[in-house]
Amino acid sequence: MVSNTSIVAIHCTREPRINPLITSYVHEILLTHTKTTNWPGTLSIIDLAAQNLPLYNEPAIPSHLPKSDPTPHHVHEHTRAWSRLIQQYDAFIFVTPQYNWSIPASLKNALDYLFHEWAGKPAGNVTYGGRGGRKAGDHLQSILTGLRMRAAECMPAIVVRSTAMEDWARDGRVSEEDREAWKGAGVDGELQVMFAEIVAEEV
Ligand SMILES: Cc1cc2nc3c(=O)[nH]c(=O)nc-3n(C[C@H](O)[C@H](O)[C@H](O)COP(=O)(O)O)c2cc1C
Repeated sequence: MVSNTSIVAIHCTREPRINPLITSYVHEILLTHTKTTNWPGTLSIIDLAAQNLPLYNEPAIPSHLPKSDPTPHHVHEHTRAWSRLIQQYDAFIFVTPQYNWSIPASLKNALDYLFHEWAGKPAGNVTYGGRGGRKAGDHLQSILTGLRMRAAECMPAIVVRSTAMEDWARDGRVSEEDREAWKGAGVDGELQVMFAEIVAEEV
């Protein structure tokens, strides 16, 4: 079981963006869930924008590095810092928009930098977009499988209205109306099912 550990929501880099607001919503729903289920771990958030990763520029193929301690074998300090950060966590929840039927390049880039740091760890896949971002979710699921992560089968997809960014900018959080709509569409329940799949995994 994943216990007494951290699960990380990773989100993407443009400005302005709604990602931090969606990620906060996901974080809040899961925090409430973990309190009611007495899950002993912690839930952290990693903001990809703060990592400042350039386009992938390592000479080696990450999967060819030594499995037991890949960090010092990355050539660039930005990669070693990213490696150290990801090594700290036992499981991940990716919260990603759909861009042109896939995930944003920034997320793919961040994933490509590492291999052993991801491999074997449970992962959740939460998407959002005009129709929920399911095409991005399907792509991400394949990528996570390629990275040998253990991706949860339940993939919550959050439908976002086209004017949401302007509406939510006023309060700095997603609106109650949208939260209710998502709850009614089953998103809260799916987040809980996804989370249960993740924490049930052996680590
Ligand atoms: C480059 C780009 C491509 C997009 N492609 C899609 C798409 O294929 N399907 C969709 O439903 N929404 C698409 N959208 C809309 C985004 O899902 C929506 O703008 C969302 O707010 C993006 O998340 P962000 O604000 O966190 O970047 C796209 C947005 C951008 C910027």
